Amino acid sequence: MDPSDEVTTQTCLDEWNDCEKEYMQLETDHELYKRKLEEMLTLQKKCLTGIASQRKRLKKIQGYCKLAKQQSLDNQQKAELKELDEKTKTHKTHFREMEESLPHKNGIYLSIILGQVNVSLLNKADKFAYKEDYEKFKVTVSYITLVLSAALFFINGSRWLDALHNFLLVWYYCTLTIRENILVVNGSRIKGWWVTHHFVSTVCAGIALIWPDGYSYQAFRTQHVVFSLYLSMLYVMQYFYQKGSLYRLRALGKGHEMDITVEGFMSWMWKGISFILPFLFAGYCFQLYNSYVLYHLALKSPHWQVFALSFLHGFLGMGNIATTLAVVKQKITEQVAGMYKSRLTNKYRFNSRTKNL
Ligand code: COA
Repeated sequence: MDPSDEVTTQTCLDEWNDCEKEYMQLETDHELYKRKLEEMLTLQKKCLTGIASQRKRLKKIQGYCKLAKQQSLDNQQKAELKELDEKTKTHKTHFREMEESLPHKNGIYLSIILGQVNVSLLNKADKFAYKEDYEKFKVTVSYITLVLSAALFFINGSRWLDALHNFLLVWYYCTLTIRENILVVNGSRIKGWWVTHHFVSTVCAGIALIWPDGYSYQAFRTQHVVFSLYLSMLYVMQYFYQKGSLYRLRALGKGHEMDITVEGFMSWMWKGISFILPFLFAGYCFQLYNSYVLYHLALKSPHWQVFALSFLHGFLGMGNIATTLAVVKQKITEQVAGMYKSRLTNKYRFNSRTKNL
């Protein structure tokens, strides 16, 4: 309405009536929403109880089958038991798929930090968006630590800048552990070691933060800065690998946009891994060398921080080597056994109408 128009009481009443109608509709919609929400929560509980009860029953049936197999059976009975075994496995896989759209309980770590707040993401589009955000967060902080480490390499003797760098790392790794635990609750297959690695890295950065200035600190400082620079570069490389993997998995999930096949994905993945592995192993050797240098410094240093860092660098280096080798072995085994296909295509299979990504 033009402000210059004459406003009468009738105009006010007309406006109010119009507004009231909209309000009534809003109230109806909200009531419907509350009812549906209640229904959804009831159904969620029903499904969760149903899955738990089914799991119990399947376990019981498997126990019976085991006992039955110990008796003398004819061929038909053997075939029946085998079929039952297959059916049980199929059901178990199906339960896992069902659970993807049901709320999950927080683990101990998240319960301590966040309490009982629900962090379950109930559809694959939201899971994809959260994972994408996690990777973006990692790379953004990695670029910052890259620049900061490069600056620290040239600016020597500024203890507060060193402290800022270490404090940033404490915050970064701590945040990573929380985000990773949320990803795990939502079905991510991150190996436990990488989460542990980020816990231990938080401790490492914390110890470096309180390491008193002195001979040992100054003797290791440049090496520490160069290692941090290298690590940031590794994280950036990992980002490009993980980002490539994430987008290809999404393309695989969208059946109608099949511009990539499972075989194409596997070939791309191996190319990516072969490129990144030499850099990773160079980093692990660097970390073991850090441990060695710190150990020798610890023998002459009065500060416990030097020995603690030597131990933690050695622990991380060895854990990284063992886990990365295990990851490569697992990938080869799964590929040979043909176990990838349905997992990869289903990972981010979601309706593009669910979320316009
Ligand atoms: N940190 C966080 N998440 C990781 C991870 C890591 N280092 N390595 C793998 N993941 C995640 C993957 O994104 C995937 O998540 P999803 O289930 O939510 O999709 C899940 O773990 C399973 O991944 P997986 O198939 O085992 O490996 P990948 O093909 O994604 O990556 C490597 C393989 C070797 C490239 C990767 O494990 C890696 O970069 N490792 C080295 C990490 C490292 O050494 N860090 C310390 C020094 S920088």
